[in-house]
Amino acid sequence: MNNFTFFNPTKLIFGKDQLEQLKTEIPQYGKKVLLVYGGGSIKRNGIYEKVTAIFSEIGAEFVELAGVEPNPRVSTVRKGVEICKNEGIEFILAVGGGSVIDCSKAIAAGAKYDGDVWDFMSRKAVPEAALPLGTVLTLAATGSEMNAGSVITNWETQEKYGWGSPLVFPKFSILDPTNTFSVPRDQTIYGMVDMMSHVFEQYFHNVSNTPLQDQMCEAVLKTVIDTAPNLLEDLESYEHRETILYNGTIALNGMLSMGYRGDWATHNIEHAVSAVYDIPHAGGLAILFPNWMRHVLDENVGRFKQLAIRVFDVNPEGKSDREIALEGIDKLSAFWSSIGAPSRLADYDIDDSNLEVMAEKTVVYGDFGNFRKLNKEDVLSILKMSL
Ligand code: NZQ
Ligand code: ZN
Repeated sequence: MNNFTFFNPTKLIFGKDQLEQLKTEIPQYGKKVLLVYGGGSIKRNGIYEKVTAIFSEIGAEFVELAGVEPNPRVSTVRKGVEICKNEGIEFILAVGGGSVIDCSKAIAAGAKYDGDVWDFMSRKAVPEAALPLGTVLTLAATGSEMNAGSVITNWETQEKYGWGSPLVFPKFSILDPTNTFSVPRDQTIYGMVDMMSHVFEQYFHNVSNTPLQDQMCEAVLKTVIDTAPNLLEDLESYEHRETILYNGTIALNGMLSMGYRGDWATHNIEHAVSAVYDIPHAGGLAILFPNWMRHVLDENVGRFKQLAIRVFDVNPEGKSDREIALEGIDKLSAFWSSIGAPSRLADYDIDDSNLEVMAEKTVVYGDFGNFRKLNKEDVLSILKMSL
């Protein structure tokens, strides 16, 4: 393991009827709240009404920023920053999925910055202060509810970048599995692919002696694999929604990668794909991940073999390490297809016309990936394999 410092200040409030805790949480940070939400799912499933009733009960004044897009745009972040500055907002409440939370994190930092908020995403500036924010999570996927990361898209320049700051860890996040009952089938599938991908990004590293981390990663993967078909049979199963919600948070709150840095190359490539085509984040990951695995396999066949045997139950008898590893990757692809995830860029009508453009975007800050460094040629190979 490498030396490490672990820090995660987000208060996780998990379970049925926990929305009530907004009554004691919000007043700790202020009375003037910016309520941030997406395209209206929280109005249709009743969460909006419950949250605003609590605002009235505790005497919180609120201003709304509605319409945060999936793959949230910097134009929307800028609107939120304006509101915060003009209205003297003291606290931001994000109610939604990863996009709403990521947008709120950027607003929180932008509200305390004199320049343009895109400076944080384009690495021209680092936040020095931020408004406090809390979240009510409605979709199990990104882990944004308990981490310091955010991903924002600039649609004008077709750029999508991750950025982060310890200043934007949510102060608290409320995770009630019943708030995820209304997540449609496709988003439920994407969420499960995303959390598995987060584990893969961390599982593939080159640091020695991580037996506990390995098994923690494998446990998350196996739990999602076991639960996914059951949840898709019954989207309103409390038990299965609960399991998946908890998995999503654990997959990306820093717990799994203590002592090493994960790879994150596939997320970088996916961000370039969705910057150009605006496809769902995890749809892109489902297509790219098995091909990234095949491309980098020889970097450390042993890790892929371990994954194949321990997670995908590949029988190693009479097979070479490479055969075992490849069979594991095939089993991952088969599993994702079995739950209805896409497997080719063609599933989103993406052909070879913008491969160069996408590959160029992945290397703007140079070669990338910590398990194996990738350059533009590597990205082009992976994209071609994914057509
Ligand atoms: O906009 P509304 O109407 O709320 O509908 C959303 C949206 O259409 C809907 N939805 C959410 N909760 C629902 C619901 N529909 C019915 N009932 C509910 N309870 O689901 C759709 C997708 O929502 P979105 O927030 O975009 O999904 P997700 O949570 O997967 O977030 C994706 C974004 O997160 C970024 C991705 O790049 C993408 O932009 N990521 C953020 C990370 C982070 N901050 O740590 C890490 C991830 O790897 C990821 O890159
Ligand atoms: Zn992701």
